[in-house]
Amino acid sequence: RKVSLTGIKPTGEPHLGNYVGAILPALDLADSYESMYFIADYHALTTVRDPALMRHYTRSVAATWLAAGLDPDRTTFYRQSDIPEIFELSWVLSCMSAKGLMNRAHAYKAARDRNREAGREDLDAGVNMGLFNYPVLMAVDILIVEADVVPVGRDQLQHVEYAADIAGSFNSIYGDRYKLKIPKPVVPEEGTAHTLPGTDGRKMSKSYGNTIPLFAPEAALKKVIRRITTDSVPVEAPKEPESSSVFTLLERFGDPAVVAETRARLLAGGMGWGEVKAQLTEALNERFAPMRDRYETLMASGSELDDLLAHGADKARKQTRPVLERVRDAIGIS
Ligand code: TYM
Repeated sequence: RKVSLTGIKPTGEPHLGNYVGAILPALDLADSYESMYFIADYHALTTVRDPALMRHYTRSVAATWLAAGLDPDRTTFYRQSDIPEIFELSWVLSCMSAKGLMNRAHAYKAARDRNREAGREDLDAGVNMGLFNYPVLMAVDILIVEADVVPVGRDQLQHVEYAADIAGSFNSIYGDRYKLKIPKPVVPEEGTAHTLPGTDGRKMSKSYGNTIPLFAPEAALKKVIRRITTDSVPVEAPKEPESSSVFTLLERFGDPAVVAETRARLLAGGMGWGEVKAQLTEALNERFAPMRDRYETLMASGSELDDLLAHGADKARKQTRPVLERVRDAIGIS
């Protein structure tokens, strides 16, 4: 049994970065691995505090996976919060995780940097224990299903390495009784799937507010794309294609012939960014319109998503229960 596992946090509508960095690679791996894909709702609790939004985003992530092609008969598809074993193992492994390791986690360090830049005396201001423990919970998501590979975007690489590290700590103590499997990250190596830029040129991220939602209605999509920052080089003048995310995104989603021609025209001068934006809107529309229809139908459906996730949780617990049992036995609590 070779397992591929990944999760998405319901902190917003899924965006193009989630699609190229995780969803697409994960669906590819589902052909050759037993796949377990889930919605990391308890991870979202570090920031989402509105219960209606929590529910909306959770359904949105679920509908996105299905619209993108996840086959629930073949993939075990579930909500993290439906798997109580995760939270029990989370305590166990937090007792085997070095605090220093958590001190160096990117998200925690970034929060402290923001406080430092703002001149605050307390660098941990606004940091809750959920944010601090985040990497341990994520390690458990991975280790409790004995995942072999974890398809993620580059920004999650450190977390998968932490999971391997934490498994190593457990194994070094209890390895003669039970060994957790050491997972491997699968990260897009090159090109724009590596880290997709958002409307402001930085990494596309819900926390930067620069995302392009996967399934926005056409009018909303147009509006977001119009917002993409560009330089103010006049239409007639030559432009550097890579200087704006518009071209980078077109390169990722557009027809290669259109992309090549646009690159040449930008370099030569005489083409404005507005025209490139129109091409990008068209490319995204063409690519995602059929999926968007499926997404909207699922979002409008009654209990279909909930039933499916409940069924997925039953399946997932067939894997998580025995692993937790073995861990409990190994540590002398059974
Ligand atoms: P999240 O919800 O922030 O993002 C979901 C996935 O999308 C990838 N991604 C990107 N890839 C390329 N370019 C971008 N601009 C971009 N933005 C996001 C992310 O790398 C991620 O793979 N902690 C995780 C959720 C999680 C998880 C897990 C993942 C919880 N437990 C266990 C794997 C295994 C997160 O916040 O992802």
